[in-house]
Amino acid sequence: MSQDEIFTASSPGKFILLGEHSVVYGKPAVALAINRRFRCTVQKSPVDMLNGLPLDTGIHPHIGYILKKNNASGVSIQTDSELPSSSGLGSSAALSSSLSAALKNMKGSEIDRRVIADEAFNAEYEAQGRASPMDASCCTFGKGIAINCPDSKGKEVWAVSKGGNSWRMSEVAVPDMTFVVGYTGIKARTGPLVEKVRKYKEHNRFASDIVDEIGKITLDGVDAMAHGNLEELGDIMTQDHKLLSILGVSCNELNKLVKASLDYSYGAKLTGSGGGGSMIALTDEPKKVCEAILLHGGLPFIVKTGVPGVTVE
Ligand code: MEV
Repeated sequence: MSQDEIFTASSPGKFILLGEHSVVYGKPAVALAINRRFRCTVQKSPVDMLNGLPLDTGIHPHIGYILKKNNASGVSIQTDSELPSSSGLGSSAALSSSLSAALKNMKGSEIDRRVIADEAFNAEYEAQGRASPMDASCCTFGKGIAINCPDSKGKEVWAVSKGGNSWRMSEVAVPDMTFVVGYTGIKARTGPLVEKVRKYKEHNRFASDIVDEIGKITLDGVDAMAHGNLEELGDIMTQDHKLLSILGVSCNELNKLVKASLDYSYGAKLTGSGGGGSMIALTDEPKKVCEAILLHGGLPFIVKTGVPGVTVE
């Protein structure tokens, strides 16, 4: 390998259709990969670099974790992302997943998606203090991933246990659906929001029941999606948004965008950790939803689903 040889891999972003936060406690969830990708290019370098500057793994813990796991040092990393960071669209999981694949390619190691998903999950877990493998799995395997949904009928792709919880990840068929993402422009870190829910759930029986309820309606949502029943799926998404709001992870900006989208959608909800970030709407009228989101201060974009996972380019 010459010093100049470069190795590139990309992973898709994702949105969580149903089940964020409760999935951290082993409840069901489903996420769909989207046609916006995170790309990492690596090459040998005398010192570790990120986008032309010396790498500070204190600021970039995911990168530090993935480098360590791959015994990689003396690497220059160039990133190129179509995903806003801290927007609920999986940018950190897509970074970990694509970096892991690019490093494995550079070292001539096998590209095993289960290994990559496991590394990306653990990078997330360390950085956030607690996490589910939802984002890491969806950004690595792509298309649609259901967690702990025994009736989803898809092939199991991998499974993991950590911190007293277990998750089984399966492929889920993604019917033709149109989604609009509305980005609030507010960057929200996942770790503190996950911690907020943990505290609430630990000290309050009601919050714990809400987490269970999110798990229950997620199973109904997966069933509705399997039957192509978009009305029911949309209703469940909107219900999920209300439950997440009760858990305290929504905010005025998200609520405004959800409400504005509902006039033209089957359903709408925040996606990811909340506190800002993004919402999604399931709709047959994407242009009208985009206008409503714009009018209420959000940045809309129509996303395609059913896209491939981590890819060496
Ligand atoms: C973040 O995209 C999703 C959360 O459920 C956290 C996690 O699953 O690790 C909030």
